[in-house]
Amino acid sequence: MSNSVAPLSERASWKALQLHAESVKARHLRQLFAEDPQRGERLVIDSAGIYFDYSKNRVTDETLSLLFRLAEESDLRGRIDAMFGGERINITENRAVLHTALRAPKGSHVYFDGEDVVPAVHEVLDKMYAFAERIRGGDWKGHTGATIKNIVNIGIGGSDLGPVMAYEALKDSSLRELTFRFVSNIDGTDFAEATKDLSPEETLFVISSKTFTTLETMTNARTARAWSLAALKDDAAVAKHFVAVSTNAAEVSKFGIDTANMFEFWDWVGGRYSMDSAIGISTLLAIGTENFKALLSGFHEMDEHFRTTPFEQNIPVLLGLLTLWNTNFLDAHSIAVLPYDQYLKRFPAYLQQLTMESNGKHVTVTGKHVNYETGPIYWGEPGTNGQHSFYQLIHQGTRLVPCDFIAFIDSLNPLGSHHDYLTANVFAQSEALAFGKTADEVKAEGTVDWLVPHRVFEGNRPSNTFLIQGLTPSVLGKLVAMYEHAVFVQGIIWEIDSFDQWGVELGKVLSQRIIPELQSPEEPVLKHDSSTNALIRRYRSLKK
Ligand code: F6P
Repeated sequence: MSNSVAPLSERASWKALQLHAESVKARHLRQLFAEDPQRGERLVIDSAGIYFDYSKNRVTDETLSLLFRLAEESDLRGRIDAMFGGERINITENRAVLHTALRAPKGSHVYFDGEDVVPAVHEVLDKMYAFAERIRGGDWKGHTGATIKNIVNIGIGGSDLGPVMAYEALKDSSLRELTFRFVSNIDGTDFAEATKDLSPEETLFVISSKTFTTLETMTNARTARAWSLAALKDDAAVAKHFVAVSTNAAEVSKFGIDTANMFEFWDWVGGRYSMDSAIGISTLLAIGTENFKALLSGFHEMDEHFRTTPFEQNIPVLLGLLTLWNTNFLDAHSIAVLPYDQYLKRFPAYLQQLTMESNGKHVTVTGKHVNYETGPIYWGEPGTNGQHSFYQLIHQGTRLVPCDFIAFIDSLNPLGSHHDYLTANVFAQSEALAFGKTADEVKAEGTVDWLVPHRVFEGNRPSNTFLIQGLTPSVLGKLVAMYEHAVFVQGIIWEIDSFDQWGVELGKVLSQRIIPELQSPEEPVLKHDSSTNALIRRYRSLKK
């Protein structure tokens, strides 16, 4: 954070937004639309292949200009340049944040500590492409000479959620002869179920871990090795059935994987920002080189849009600012992400790590406790399923839940009228949320008086709609990059470090203390609180 920037709650634009919010709270989206018949065409951005309709937010032109002023006062422009320029903006880990370099085209330049990182990025990509062609073409044989038919990615957090989400999202482009499984949980059930029907001779494990020390991943990786070797009965089989994706070559060789079979990435790539690094190798194996290149080019297009477009027309900037507006000034605590495409069923789960591990922080970069809300809770399900489950609360509950609707003009599986019905539903939901139904309208339908309050929809519930031509690899790259950068925008304004994750540490440390207490043959001396002590004793005494 540059020294010239005042603390957030002292910035003039922040104070102005607080005042302004009072007048906006008194207004309804019905009024805002009635006053400006062009609002639905005016408050949109149509750029980088994404039509972003933000007109159904509770904002006026004044709100928007105050938000842009806030971005300027927060030196957002300078911080964007600092990120793209390889400065160590992840200050608590003293690291640069250069996931944008992962999708920089060959021949472009991104410098970190005076060194151009783009050649190394493309060296790894080329190695990945060559490997993928051998697997997909059936040239890479297992230890017994069998063709590899199954790929099992073992990883967790950023080393799992991106790969699973992308695999599901791009299934339409995937090679159906290969079976993909993803194992993340330390619960043995995850591994057992993922491998139950697979033949070790035909199975390749991709051990994905930035650090190669994560308990869950290393435990699953050891179990995978034992599962493989129990059938293949030769340590030499590891070379044919295990590859690694990591930043930690020393740990990879210690595990027994030849570093020739390791795909590298770098500490300037955060785990939750790594799906387009070598961590995406399962995605590449599924969709092939050309589609993977298209995915990267989609990411890059959004990067360039974010880096160069004036804030008023900048999709991630506006998305970030609107989320901040809803969170800090309209008291929303969560955001529902509602993709109207079944292929995006894991997208909300992916966004949960991206958004909440990034912006779930309560101290500023200078270590002060914030005096405003930071990262909202992200959640969601694909439409229309969510409509028959939790939308009730979004429409008529007491909480304000801003929604991000994601919809596509073309279906990848056009069956009869399905797609028109799906699309009609997404448009209907945002319309109902914004405009609702008044008591007069309910009465005019002949509803008996006592039932009227139950059937009223207050409306005035904000939403964004992203309408995109079709779900292609390039579009997926754009969508992910859009949210990555929106998270960045919020983090800069909130003055937090969006790229560390200290909040996951304590539980990890405590579990290391508890593991021997669960396993020791002698009764351990327990020094936890009385609840934890009792739980440990009960588990020990009842476990079979
Ligand atoms: O525990 C959180 C975390 O560090 C995430 O940030 C990360 O994505 C995940 O664990 C997995 O880490 P790794 O890739 O090093 O195994």
